[in-house]
Amino acid sequence: RRIKGEVVLKDVTFGYVPGKTVLKRINVTAKPGQKIAFVGSTGAGKTTITNLINRFYEIEEGEIYIDGINIRRIKKDSLRSNIAMVLQDTHLFSGTVRENIRYGRLDATDEEVVAAAKIACAHSFIERLPEGYDTVLEGDGANLSQGERQLLNIARAAISKAPILILDEATSSVDTRTEKYIERGMDRLMKNRTTFVIAHRLSTVRNADLIIVLEHGEIIEQGTHEELLDLGGRYYQLYTG
Ligand code: CTP
Ligand code: MG
Repeated sequence: RRIKGEVVLKDVTFGYVPGKTVLKRINVTAKPGQKIAFVGSTGAGKTTITNLINRFYEIEEGEIYIDGINIRRIKKDSLRSNIAMVLQDTHLFSGTVRENIRYGRLDATDEEVVAAAKIACAHSFIERLPEGYDTVLEGDGANLSQGERQLLNIARAAISKAPILILDEATSSVDTRTEKYIERGMDRLMKNRTTFVIAHRLSTVRNADLIIVLEHGEIIEQGTHEELLDLGGRYYQLYTG
């Protein structure tokens, strides 16, 4: 069975406002199932790349292809069902915990919801909520902590069958103990999916198939962890702090 999820960015140039280029001629090829990491300082353009893959914005120059199809020609809801994401700003809606985890997978059983919550280390806090999985979340999950909201987003990604996964500081609000605990779950999440991962903590990107270093919207270095350390450039500087 051929797994899906090839993502190609070809000469992508983009700015949010006219006259201010945020990404310059970005070329990236992610083969199905690969883990690609973006690193670089604040404002380098990491989140912007994933915004474009998600087609939250239209590209000015260049093209993005998913499994050979230009994303301009992919319907929005089809794109949504092909990309799962856990972002720094969580997205929850007013509804029950169960509904929030299930999200696009309306066919998912209660057992699958619990299994996904366990992968995300969310099961134990959910069980402590007044109505468990039937607890109604206020808009954007205001009655949960930031970390708990991220765990629910991870559970949602776990239940999704999307071949592409975007993790943008996915565990940034989770305490270090839970983060350590969740590592195996994150590995399961990434298994057989093309994953784009953004993390300030470089320990979470070192096992990526390809690490791309961005600076001021340009790719300045790319390679594996070992290759980039040998290079002794920007990644080496970031890594050795
Ligand atoms: N930007 C913008 N309008 C937005 C979002 C971002 O003009 N709606 C600009 C930012 O000011 C920044 C550049 O785009 O100069 C890149 O932003 P971003 O891709 O979000 O940077 P990251 O590399 O993701 O930075 P961080 O590590 O802080 O998340
Ligand atoms: Mg960012």
